Amino acid sequence: MPPAPPTEAATPGVAERVVGWQLTHGRHGLPWQGTRDAYRVWLSEIMLQQTQVSTVLAYYPRFLQRFPDVAALAAAPLDDVLALWSGLGYYRRARNLHRCAQAVMAEHGGAFPRSSAVLATLPGIGRSTAAAIAAFCFGERAAILDGNVKRVLTRALGFGGDLAVAAQERQLWQQAEALLPAQGIEAYTQGLMDLGATVCTVRRPQCLLCPLQPVCVARREGQPERYPVKTRKLKRGARSNALLWLQQADRVWLVQRPDTGVWAGLWSLPPFDDLAEPRRLSASWPGVATTLPPFEHVLTHFDWALQPLHHRLPDALQGPALQAVEATLPAGRWFTLDEAMALGLPAPIRKLLGSA
Ligand code: ADE
Ligand code: SF4
Repeated sequence: MPPAPPTEAATPGVAERVVGWQLTHGRHGLPWQGTRDAYRVWLSEIMLQQTQVSTVLAYYPRFLQRFPDVAALAAAPLDDVLALWSGLGYYRRARNLHRCAQAVMAEHGGAFPRSSAVLATLPGIGRSTAAAIAAFCFGERAAILDGNVKRVLTRALGFGGDLAVAAQERQLWQQAEALLPAQGIEAYTQGLMDLGATVCTVRRPQCLLCPLQPVCVARREGQPERYPVKTRKLKRGARSNALLWLQQADRVWLVQRPDTGVWAGLWSLPPFDDLAEPRRLSASWPGVATTLPPFEHVLTHFDWALQPLHHRLPDALQGPALQAVEATLPAGRWFTLDEAMALGLPAPIRKLLGSA
């Protein structure tokens, strides 16, 4: 073992305090506790990822009754799994659950791998979930760092790094590892989860009830809610759309965005789910189509991948032939490039049209 990093010495007793508190004040007797059956622990951890304990309590026994082991789950039709998951939300978890069970059967002889590193290679099992399973089932000293635990640790340590920055998040992982107790990893892991869920809450943490209060930096500073620091939402979504850039001479066809949502009320290029539809339209028109390089637009809640398809109609196209094209377009109108630039255009659309 390398010598203990300085963090451990600087914050004496964090692990001991969490372990002691878990044993006396933490949650006990939940249906997925008191077992080292990796199937049961894994199932509970996946269900608990985005769902409260009180809700999971209703689903967990039903699920186990229908799928008592990993073999039964792997052999079931996906539709049956989704049906039993119905109401828990985040259905990607259910699909991954099914895929994971099949991977355990096909690649691991029906037994969950015993190390967090290998567990983390399975579908739907991230680093923190892998560590929790390995700690609960196999006693591995592995650090967890889900949203709740990030909150507890950044506050206790006074960790002010921006968790939206990957290097800072790595730092926090390292500190989480440095804090791990030599003994009692199960109680420590459960204790961190329980503290985050019941004491060190997002708003109004109950510092007076917290075992870390004597050593907690955020508490000493007086404003625990300032942690964790993250400039962007950690959980960002991703979307993608195709955009049709239809041009004739110096004019462009724009549509007005709905009054709500992204770019509300602004004029923009007509959006499509993907390239299929604009390509199909474009193929039926005279003129020249070009698929332009896709670009990424970063919004508060998601990253938006945009894929423009440029189509230039013949300048001379007019009358019924032009009307036939317009009839296939999403409701909108022509603007000259100058008119368009004078409108409230979304910044990336303005940039795109300016590149013409
Ligand atoms: N959230 C994620 N895992 C959990 C667990 N084992 N107990 C309580 N809450 C949790
Ligand atoms: Fe959270 Fe307060 Fe405990 Fe610090 S003392 S870990 S801020 S509950």
